Amino acid sequence: MYNLPGDPAGFAQYGRFNNPTWDAVEEILGHLEAAPAVAFPSGMAAISATFFSLLKGGDRVLLPSDGYYTTRVLAERFLKPLGVSFDLRATTAYLDGGFDGYRLVFVETPANPGLDLCDIAAVAAAAHAAGATVVADNTTMTAYGQRPLDLGADIVVAADTKAPGGHSDVLFGHVASRDDAVIAAARDWRKLSGAIPGPFEAWLVHRGLETLEVRFDRMCSSAETIARRLREHPKIEAIRFPGLEDDPSHALALAQMDRFGFLIGVTLASQEAAEGFIDRCALIQPATSFGGVHTSAERRARWGDAVAPGFVRLSVGCEPVEELWSAIEQALG
Ligand SMILES: Cc1ncc(COP(=O)(O)O)c(C=O)c1O
Repeated sequence: MYNLPGDPAGFAQYGRFNNPTWDAVEEILGHLEAAPAVAFPSGMAAISATFFSLLKGGDRVLLPSDGYYTTRVLAERFLKPLGVSFDLRATTAYLDGGFDGYRLVFVETPANPGLDLCDIAAVAAAAHAAGATVVADNTTMTAYGQRPLDLGADIVVAADTKAPGGHSDVLFGHVASRDDAVIAAARDWRKLSGAIPGPFEAWLVHRGLETLEVRFDRMCSSAETIARRLREHPKIEAIRFPGLEDDPSHALALAQMDRFGFLIGVTLASQEAAEGFIDRCALIQPATSFGGVHTSAERRARWGDAVAPGFVRLSVGCEPVEELWSAIEQALG
């Protein structure tokens, strides 16, 4: 709480309403997004704020069938009972079937974990023509790698838990938009629902953002090197990385992404092969998150994602790339 004598207008009033450390981190996030940003205690809190501040009973939402699964569970468990229906569509097929009748069209590209892409500009144009608001989850890319608002999306949501925080020690999220009404609604939702970020977490993310550009650059460059080598490795049965010329998403990635990201999807022969690889590699941390300075990996089928049992999502960190490759090669061998 703050010292608040007399007329409260114009002062910090109460910690659920405002906080100077939120202001500081929102200023940097807003600078990165070139749009006002509202801070939240996690990526899901940012996504929830968007849903619950904009949707009402009778609305229809389109969600990716292959994106981060918790967004779909949230819709099933908490939007549906309020009378908000939703449909699922594969990210590569997002333009198929049009957007008539949707209040909100939610894209996630590259989708986590399969790394398929959709054309944000084309989706935004068609969705706007149908009267829908377009929300882009930009967690896998950050504003350094892809700029959905410049491509026509109305709202960006992101888990700053990942590369922006960058040190695997904080959860955080934000909503960014150039629409003042969206920002005002997100702020109201935060204040009234009480889903507020802690000041210490805001400070950690502020500190992380100071180095995001150099970390992201290093991680993306290393991922390009490692993806090329993994593609040639006999133990790798399939690989997805938008930066590879033969990846089905490559042409679109070149057109709409500034970098190819730091996530690589690799498929090994089996669950045992995938788990053995993760456990044996001295420079891979087994973890269900990504975007940290340390390389991490996870066998995604353990959460029920529609991927092969041997599919591993590899998040390339900031280690020296040759040492990292040696450790990966040794673990695969
Ligand atoms: C694409 C995507 N969006 C949102 C989230 C949710 O972020 P948080 O765990 O900070 O709530 C995640 C988390 O993995 C994610 O991968």
